[in-house]
Amino acid sequence: MTDPITGAYQDFAKEMSYGDYLQLDSLLTAQQPRSKSHDEMLFIVMHQTAELWMKLALHELVAARALIQAHGELRPAFKMLARVSRIQTQLIAQWDVLATMTPADYLSFRDELGKSSGFQSYQYRALEYLLGSKDPKMIEPHAHRPDLVALLRQHLAEPSLYDACIALLARRGFAIDPAHLNRDVSGPYQADPSVEAAWRTVYQDANTHWDLYELAEELVDLEDSFQTWRFRHVTTVQRIIGFRQGTGGTAGVGYLKRAVGRPFFPELWDLRTTL
Ligand code: HEM
Repeated sequence: MTDPITGAYQDFAKEMSYGDYLQLDSLLTAQQPRSKSHDEMLFIVMHQTAELWMKLALHELVAARALIQAHGELRPAFKMLARVSRIQTQLIAQWDVLATMTPADYLSFRDELGKSSGFQSYQYRALEYLLGSKDPKMIEPHAHRPDLVALLRQHLAEPSLYDACIALLARRGFAIDPAHLNRDVSGPYQADPSVEAAWRTVYQDANTHWDLYELAEELVDLEDSFQTWRFRHVTTVQRIIGFRQGTGGTAGVGYLKRAVGRPFFPELWDLRTTL
């Protein structure tokens, strides 16, 4: 039957419906708790939604990097970076939902997780790589999946979003050390004095370099939110498992704390002390 005014009640046998378009049958059958514990559904949905938001963040960041590399035309890239900031707000707020789970709730299904852990999130690693935090060892858990190894190796080999910004600084006439500009980008990023000097000029004369100034602040926002996410992860983990080892085999809270404060864009933080 079709509603004569809205047309909303039609038979979708021959048309694409909402569920068809969004592939809801696949999406909503992907929650398969392994225990009878009530809270396992929360745990699964938390991780799956985080993975979906990470997927969109990667999509936006890769596109923003391409724009910065191709044109140095920053306005469309800013729109994407602003969207990533909003995604991060969602990811951070999500911890409040997970914090409703008590240690006993978690322990009721934890054994079912085996050795699986967010440590093996390849999208999280891709995000870290894309932002310049490149530790090739983090590919090892994916050795059994050549497709994921290839994806992560590609992120490792490509310039990070920050590398693209530094190349833009050079194209705009800032004196970036050629050795830094042409270095092998597949390793972890090391702070460089010529990059710090360039950003300092941008901050000291923001009116002349307004778009670069805005870019720098968008990067700082991004990193700030990333660190906030990491911090909320550690506190939630400590609240739920204390100082137990992680299912992924690390020391747990001790391991996670080390990542909080590990900067993606070190010069943008360092220059604040001396500005
Ligand atoms: C009960 C909730 C959670 C607990 C107890 C927990 C615990 C842990 C622990 C202990 C680690 C360190 C690796 C290990 O030894 O397993 C870890 C890593 C990680 N977890 Fe969680 N986690 C929880 C929820 C989440 C959620 C909801 C996400 C969202 C995707 C997530 C994403 C990650 C990521 C990406 C890492 C790797 C971090 C890195 O290597 O720096 N975790 N988690």
